[in-house]
Amino acid sequence: MKQDLEQLQKDFAKLVEKISDKDALSLLKNEFLGRKGKLKGLMRDMASLADEERKAIGAFANEVKDVIETAYKSKEEEINAREESELAQSEWADITQPGSFPAEGHLHPVTKAIHEIEDIFARIGFTRFPVPEVDWDYYTFEALNFPKDHPARDDWETFFVDAPEGKKGELVAVPHISNVQVRAMEQLKAPFRILYIGRSYRRQSDTSHSPMFHQFEVLLIDEGVNFTHLKGVIEHFVHSYFGPDRNIRLRPHHFRFTEPSFEVDISCDLCSGAGEVDGKTCRMCKEGWLELAGAGMTHPNVIKAGGLDPEKYTALAFAFGVERTMMMRSGMNVDDIRLLYKNDLRFVNQF
Ligand code: PHE
Repeated sequence: MKQDLEQLQKDFAKLVEKISDKDALSLLKNEFLGRKGKLKGLMRDMASLADEERKAIGAFANEVKDVIETAYKSKEEEINAREESELAQSEWADITQPGSFPAEGHLHPVTKAIHEIEDIFARIGFTRFPVPEVDWDYYTFEALNFPKDHPARDDWETFFVDAPEGKKGELVAVPHISNVQVRAMEQLKAPFRILYIGRSYRRQSDTSHSPMFHQFEVLLIDEGVNFTHLKGVIEHFVHSYFGPDRNIRLRPHHFRFTEPSFEVDISCDLCSGAGEVDGKTCRMCKEGWLELAGAGMTHPNVIKAGGLDPEKYTALAFAFGVERTMMMRSGMNVDDIRLLYKNDLRFVNQF
């Protein structure tokens, strides 16, 4: 009997050794010390012993029970300690570290450029005027001195809107924002000076053209407005936005709605006006200059279409592409205009 008890104690010691989690430990304890456990089984057998012997074995059985319980407790403590240290490891936090901040967004570079352009013209008294993004053929072409079927209309490769024709012709996604000119003359009392900025749509896509792009246009109408005013307003913008060092040149050109007409070029920032980079033709401008704007003195027929007397009023107008204008400024060095509208944050976040 005593041997059985000793064996029991040894068995427990051996088994408890291998245990590493609480569930298995409590099962083991139950197996040895539980109500239907091994120790109770042996003690039941003691009933048949003589009094003297039963006392001695009973005392020994209690010792065995104590030893097993002690072994159980020390295992339990060991497991607790390990679990606590694991928790401490996994939930460790350096409370002296600064917190993490939510990511902060910023305006798209084109939007920023639009705000800046608006400021520059506000300084010389130009106020913003709205641009309809779709408009009738009449305001887009007809009133701007393009006769119907004039081949010049093809230059813009216009997107037509699939909608019924109205009294003022077909609806188009505006290919330029000069549609505002006659609308403004109809709505405002001359003299006025306005700036309008909006989206233009044309069928074109390459490194310097995107099918949707922004333009800003200026229209100043008054008595006695002449070419020197046109040049002065363009220079005010170019020097304010690009700095006094960037060169501009005006080339004679042809637009139906201005006479005389010009194209405004600015020296290219990517190749510094050289026309080549590392011995290769500059991808951006090909010749050192980048076409930025169309300009001219408003054609008398347009002033007439706006309900004003071209004998009394003369006007100047010019339009720049916002994206190109922004890309040509020092430091931007973007060699494909379409990158601006790819929605790639790695690109946009640089500006
Ligand atoms: N609307 C012309 C274009 O988009 C530019 C222009 C505007 C030219 C005003 C002259 C005057 O190319």
